Order: sequence, then C-alpha cells, then structure tokens
Amino acid sequence: ASYEHILTETPKPGVGLITLNRPKALNALSSPLFQELNDALSNFDQDNDIGAIILTGSEKAFAAGADIKEMAPLTFSSAYSNNFIAPWSHLANSIRKPVIAAVSGYALGGGCELALMCDIIYCTANATFGQPEIKLGVIPGAGGSQRLTRAIGKSRAMELILTGKNFSGKEAGEWGVAARVVDGGKEELLAETLKTAETIAGYSRVAVVAAKEVVNKSQELSLREGVEYERRLFHGLFGSMTAFAEKKKPEWSHE
Ligand code: HXC
Repeated sequence: ASYEHILTETPKPGVGLITLNRPKALNALSSPLFQELNDALSNFDQDNDIGAIILTGSEKAFAAGADIKEMAPLTFSSAYSNNFIAPWSHLANSIRKPVIAAVSGYALGGGCELALMCDIIYCTANATFGQPEIKLGVIPGAGGSQRLTRAIGKSRAMELILTGKNFSGKEAGEWGVAARVVDGGKEELLAETLKTAETIAGYSRVAVVAAKEVVNKSQELSLREGVEYERRLFHGLFGSMTAFAEKKKPEWSHE
C-alpha cells in the first residue's frame, strides 16, 4: 500500500516496520495519519509472514502530539458526534501481534499516549516524553491518564499530568515506562528494536499472540481471574512442546 503520512516496510523476515512520516509537523497525529496507521497495523496483523510490528518516528519526533491545528476548531458537539479519537483505540483493542514502539525525540501528548498503547517501549536516553495537555487547557484524551498511571504509579503520573512537565527517555527507563533505553540515536535504537522484534517473530505465532493476550489481561482482570484466564490459554497451547522433549529444533507453522 502507498501512504502519504507513514512508511511501511519489512526490514527483516517476520518484522513489519511502520514509520510515522509527517516531518514538517513533527509527526503530529492527524486523523488522516491515524487512518493510514490503522490500515497498516491491520495489514501486518493479518499477514502470516509477520510476527512482530515496530512503530517508530524520526530522530527528532516519535510524535509531537495529536494535531493541534485539527483539534483547535472542534466543538463539543462536533467532537462528540464524530467520536473524535475513538479510532485511536484500534491499536490497543484489535491488534493481536506485539507492537514495539521505538521512541526517539518528542513523544508528547497523543504521541506519548500512542507509545503507551504499544506492548513494549524502547527509547533513546534523550527522548522527550510528556503529557502537556494541561498547558493547552485540556487533558490527555487517548488513554494517557490511565496507562501512564498504571505504568509509573499515581503520584508521579498526577504530577506529570497536572504540571505538563516532560520526562526524559532516561527517566522512562528508570520508571519502567520503557523496557530499554538504548545508547545513541535513532539508528542504534532501531537496530536494538529490530533484534527484539526478530526474536519474537521467530517464535510460535500462536504462543506469541497468547502471551500478549494474557499479559494485557493482567491490566483488566483481578489476580484470580487473570491466573485462571492464563491457565486456560496455557492448556490450549499443549501439543507444541514435543520438539523440546525430542531434542529437535522446533519448526513453527505460521498458518
Ligand atoms: C500540530 C504541530 C504539533 C502538534 C508541532 N507541530 N507539534 N502541529 N500539532 N502537536 C508543528 C509546528 O506547528 C510547526 O509547524 C512544526 O510542527 C515544527 O514545530 P516547531 O514548534 O517549530 O518545532 P520546535 O521549535 O523544535 O518545537 C518542538 C516542540 C513544539 C517543543 C515539540 O512543536 C511543541 O511544543 N509542539 C506541541 C506539543 C504539544 O503540546 N503536544 C500535545 C498536543 S495535545 P509550522 O507549520 O508552524 O512550521 C494532544 C492531545 C492528545 O496531543 C489527546 C487526544 C489524543
């Protein structure tokens, strides 16, 4: 597919890469951009040759937020009638394969929320995260108040959301927002992210999808319900461990 605001490629076997590409607006997340992003995510999700997806931006900006120029003229009635921002939930609600965010530069407002929707975040040390909405007279609108709070705890999230202060990639790593802080710039970041994506893509697709599903359930269910849910899916994967028992290299069928 050819897109205007994003680039898609398959840089390694099994890995789909989506690059946000609106450099003049620091990858501000407009509705047309999001439509393309959702389409590309769905295509990779449905492609049997793809096992993991990477979402990235430029060296300077993962994404500087929702598109302020698009939002400024909206009224309650137009935003509510059109369910503005609802399409953003596609990534979190419908994409079953793992999505890794590789964050260099700004991840502000909706950009930070988009990274938080991904399953794993890798970033550079001097990436800039933040929820600056309060400075614009609004609040996070794409899950930031919920996901950031779950990621770093209430007091820190409250401080960041109420002051609009940014936090660095280094802090994101220390606080557990990012799984890994990579030394260097976007190139080094992408190389590390690709390695992880390749590793994941090398495993059984059905096990990977199940693993993502059960970890995400931990955010929604009580501990007891979550453990039971996990056990059911675990039972469902039986029959795939014979290669280990027979000391053979597993060959996963990806249908
Ligand atoms: C629309 C944006 C934008 C945004 C940057 N641009 N961020 N356009 N929406 N969120 C545009 C600028 O208008 C400018 O275009 C071009 O990108 C380059 O930006 P500059 O400001 O000239 O760059 P710089 O001086 O390097 O400053 C970078 C920056 C700053 C610190 C990131 O751009 C900035 O503060 N941006 C806004 C960040 C923000 O408040 N994000 C949260 C948005 S609210 P022109 O054409 O003028 O040259 C939000 C709500 C989410 O995300 C809730 C629902 C999803």
